[in-house]
Amino acid sequence: MTTALITGSTAGIGAAFARRLAADGHDLVLVARDTGRLRVQATELHDRHGIEAEVLTADLATDEGIEAVATRLGDRRNPVDLLVNNAGFGNKGRYLEAPMADELRMLKVHVEAVLRLTSAAVAAMRERGRGGVVNVASVAAFVPRGTYGASKAWVVQFTQGAARDLAGSGVRLMALCPGFVRTEFHQRAGMGTDNIPGWLWLDADKVVAAALADLARGKTVSVPDPRYKALMGAAKLAPRGLLGGITSKTGRKYGPR
Ligand SMILES: NC(=O)c1ccc[n+]([C@@H]2O[C@H](COP(=O)([O-])OP(=O)(O)OC[C@H]3O[C@@H](n4cnc5c(N)ncnc54)[C@H](OP(=O)(O)O)[C@@H]3O)[C@@H](O)[C@H]2O)c1
Repeated sequence: MTTALITGSTAGIGAAFARRLAADGHDLVLVARDTGRLRVQATELHDRHGIEAEVLTADLATDEGIEAVATRLGDRRNPVDLLVNNAGFGNKGRYLEAPMADELRMLKVHVEAVLRLTSAAVAAMRERGRGGVVNVASVAAFVPRGTYGASKAWVVQFTQGAARDLAGSGVRLMALCPGFVRTEFHQRAGMGTDNIPGWLWLDADKVVAAALADLARGKTVSVPDPRYKALMGAAKLAPRGLLGGITSKTGRKYGPR
């Protein structure tokens, strides 16, 4: 029996990882801020799949929260075999519209927590000669898309660089870069979604299935779904200015404040 730790496990992509990994027979450590929701999720997954699901309440926008999860990842007696750094969010507003405190909170969750948790997990995995880390980034990493895209670009660069440094260690790292996925993300950020064409939306369970297949193949960057693979291929060829014009509008329509 192996154990996976998922941050942001209670909703969206993280919940899809939890469902799939539990169905595959992995024990889980579930991390988010809402303890009540975590407990309900742990009970459901235990009852349905017969796996052990631990609840770890932590706010990854705080040092204490990051430290608590890092300590669990470093526990050599209860090893974690797969870490999914998934917790994340978007801020309402374009550059200079979101309060600086919110921008810094996003960097703490998307960058600092990912760095510290990956490092805690990988140090223990490398000693055992096996393990995996999935860092959830976004296709926004590849296009000019505000501070959110910049934070996800860091996740991709960091993951690819660390994967290269760890080659041959038995530890795999992969950045997962989905397009628009139907989750609580946009509603939580107060973003309107009616200008996002229907064909651009992805299903979280399918994203997770593609991600785990890519991890097993040894990919270091996964763009799930052929539609987004084609779009990202075209984006590499398109002039940066044109790309900025399109990506700054799609899916960045904000609801009333
Ligand atoms: N949805 C998309 O279109 C999309 C596309 C590309 C990439 N992504 C990325 O995918 C990841 C998951 O997003 P999602 O769409 O699944 O979002 P979601 O449905 O809003 O779920 C977010 C999860 O993260 C947890 N979380 C949020 N802030 C946290 C914090 N400070 N500390 C600990 N846990 C926290 C939430 O639980 P609590 O509120 O209880 O803490 C929840 O479990 C994010 O990194 C996001 O950037 C999303």
